[in-house]
Amino acid sequence: MAASLTSENFVLHKLQSLTGIIPVGFYMLQHLTLNSFAIAGPDKFNAVIGFFEGMPFHLLLLLEICLIWIPLLFHAVYGTFIAFRAQPNYIGTKYRWSQNRMFVLQRITGLIAFAFLIVHVITTTGAKYWAHAQGAANPVEKIQFAAWHDKLTTAPYLWTLFYLIGVLACSYHLSYGVWNFSIRWGLAISERAQIAVQKFSFWMFIVVTILGWSALVGFLLPQHASGVESQTAITPVSGTLSGV
Ligand code: HEM
Repeated sequence: MAASLTSENFVLHKLQSLTGIIPVGFYMLQHLTLNSFAIAGPDKFNAVIGFFEGMPFHLLLLLEICLIWIPLLFHAVYGTFIAFRAQPNYIGTKYRWSQNRMFVLQRITGLIAFAFLIVHVITTTGAKYWAHAQGAANPVEKIQFAAWHDKLTTAPYLWTLFYLIGVLACSYHLSYGVWNFSIRWGLAISERAQIAVQKFSFWMFIVVTILGWSALVGFLLPQHASGVESQTAITPVSGTLSGV
């Protein structure tokens, strides 16, 4: 293990690649899809939160730890190590090909996504658990529609900018990661297959970005702002907390 932190480790590198798709990539796709319910208004978004709220607390926590936190931390920490160990192949070199540019961008967006996720998880799940520990009556309101609306409309809209950039970085990183994964695992060997995967990655980037940004649009729509005031809070199921 000690040697693997200073030099290339075949198994850890493959595991890093795999965890980016399963379970982290799949989690991100379902997460952004469910968040996009915000477009349909506060009731629909809060119903999604309420669904997870209804799960037994210990089962939910176990799922979060095993399927989200551990794989995500491993993928991000080992990925940061890989990114800093890589030799420069685009900036400051004569090899300024589009493939190399995409490779460098994939590393940069990985680092942005890591920083984005630290802040994002602390201010959502972290804030909710903190409110719970403080004995707040409804800790879940920290992640409900009204909280998002307030946060994103706070002048000068720095949170909105933060989320636009964070979602964009995550979307690029996952979509181009599909291309990396196909090469590393030998799924796209012929030139034809590689071109097909590259096209798929491009369109995936467009679709996932729109999906992620649509939630932000939902929180900002003027017709939803009026509903936020009168919105009835979802009564938390006793002893449980949610996880979207
Ligand atoms: C439109 C942008 C986004 C919105 C509105 C949003 C919303 C939320 C909410 C409400 C939670 C709290 C879940 C809970 O504790 O019950 C959460 C947590 C989380 N989000 Fe996001 N999210 C967004 C973008 C992303 C992106 C791009 C990723 C990338 C993978 C991501 C990954 C996570 C993770 C890992 C957690 C912690 C999950 C848990 O512990 O249950 N989010 N998000």
